[in-house]
Amino acid sequence: MAMAAASARSSAADTRKPLAAFVADAATEAHVRRVTAALGWADADVLSATPAEAVKRLASSATPARLLVDLSGSADPLADLELIADVCDGETPLIAIGTVNDVDLYRKLLAAGVDDYLVKPLASEALAAALTALGAAAAETEDTAPRDPLGRLVAVIGARGGVGSTTVAVNTAWLLAHDLKLKTALVDLDLYFGTCALALDVEPGRGFRLALESPGRIDNLFLERVMVRISDLFYLLAAENDLEFYHTVDRDTLREALHVLVQTIRRNFKMTVFDLPRHAARTQVSLLTPPASLVLVSDPSLAGLRDTIRLAKMLQHLAPEAELSVVLERCGAIKGAELAEKEFEQDGSIKIGSVIPFEAKPAVASTAAGKPLVCVAPRSRTARALKQLAVKLSGTEESTAKPSPLGRLLHWGT
Ligand SMILES: Nc1ncnc2c1ncn2[C@@H]1O[C@H](COP(=O)(O)OP(=O)(O)O)[C@@H](O)[C@H]1O
Ligand SMILES: [Mg+2]
Repeated sequence: MAMAAASARSSAADTRKPLAAFVADAATEAHVRRVTAALGWADADVLSATPAEAVKRLASSATPARLLVDLSGSADPLADLELIADVCDGETPLIAIGTVNDVDLYRKLLAAGVDDYLVKPLASEALAAALTALGAAAAETEDTAPRDPLGRLVAVIGARGGVGSTTVAVNTAWLLAHDLKLKTALVDLDLYFGTCALALDVEPGRGFRLALESPGRIDNLFLERVMVRISDLFYLLAAENDLEFYHTVDRDTLREALHVLVQTIRRNFKMTVFDLPRHAARTQVSLLTPPASLVLVSDPSLAGLRDTIRLAKMLQHLAPEAELSVVLERCGAIKGAELAEKEFEQDGSIKIGSVIPFEAKPAVASTAAGKPLVCVAPRSRTARALKQLAVKLSGTEESTAKPSPLGRLLHWGT
């Protein structure tokens, strides 16, 4: 049965054209033709056409195994790609090419589902490598499940230390995996003092460090080896780096490595929850391309209020596309000395999305067991509030339609 399905799939794949390329100028057309000839793809379609002409042509012909689309001259590349997505089989891998050499555009295109972006003039080796890499990825996914949309990112940031942000990150991640049955990665971005591994009573391992030092090695296989498996649906990536690492690692390499890492993780996990320390938020929050949420955790104190307002302003500026919500944690810990919810919302700049009550007993039981609070005291008031928050963060209401990779383009900017 499985073999019959596999051979049906491969014979279906054989009937498709290996590539349809829509390029903007004759020089690029000749170049792409040379590369496809070298790859032995005699029946590839290589045409001089605008994205709009590509849409017309694709609408009236069978979807090819791969697409190459030249976006030079396109006033709105993302909108053009949406139109192409409309007329194609959603799983078709796509390489975009163009003249704009801009990392922001590159990231937006990747986030929108484009597999690679090459800047003209094209180098033959780079084009051949990109096209064959697409082939390998397509073969890999044909043998497994169809490719899923990009996973949702959730960054949990504490307005101050000790307010319960790690508790929120660990518990919501656990719930997303085990209650909501979404494959979830918990990533501790506090590379030196993180406590996610401690909270789950596991060794963080050396994988995160290796990934940060050599981003070129990061791929699905690498991830599988370096992430700590808590259960089938729940994985952890954490580090306890020596403090000297801070002085030896190059900032740009670190940023690039984290970017590659996040993109690779979100292709493999429906949800990725980051425990993001506030001192790193300024530099790392740009990792959050949609779909993404930012959760700002504070205790109900005056200092918490001040820092929540300041951080919310900064985060909205740095990651305007991420949905921001504020969580009041440890409510009731110091009765009488706490600000009320409406005092937090008084100046109108923030709105409280969730209130998590303080309960000492379940928290102590959780620490003693080395398990999340929601696991050891699932019926406590704290656990119930955390469950409501996890459901909100899952974004399940919007994502039940499950857009395909090219279909993701349709969701860009909405
Ligand atoms: N709702 C709660 N009820 C009781 N204790 C809590 C609650 N939330 C967090 N804690 C405790 O507060 C302390 C600080 O929490 P933690 O999540 O480590 O904060 P942060 O990561 O913001 O520094 C921990 O001992 C944790 O068990
Ligand atoms: Mg913490």
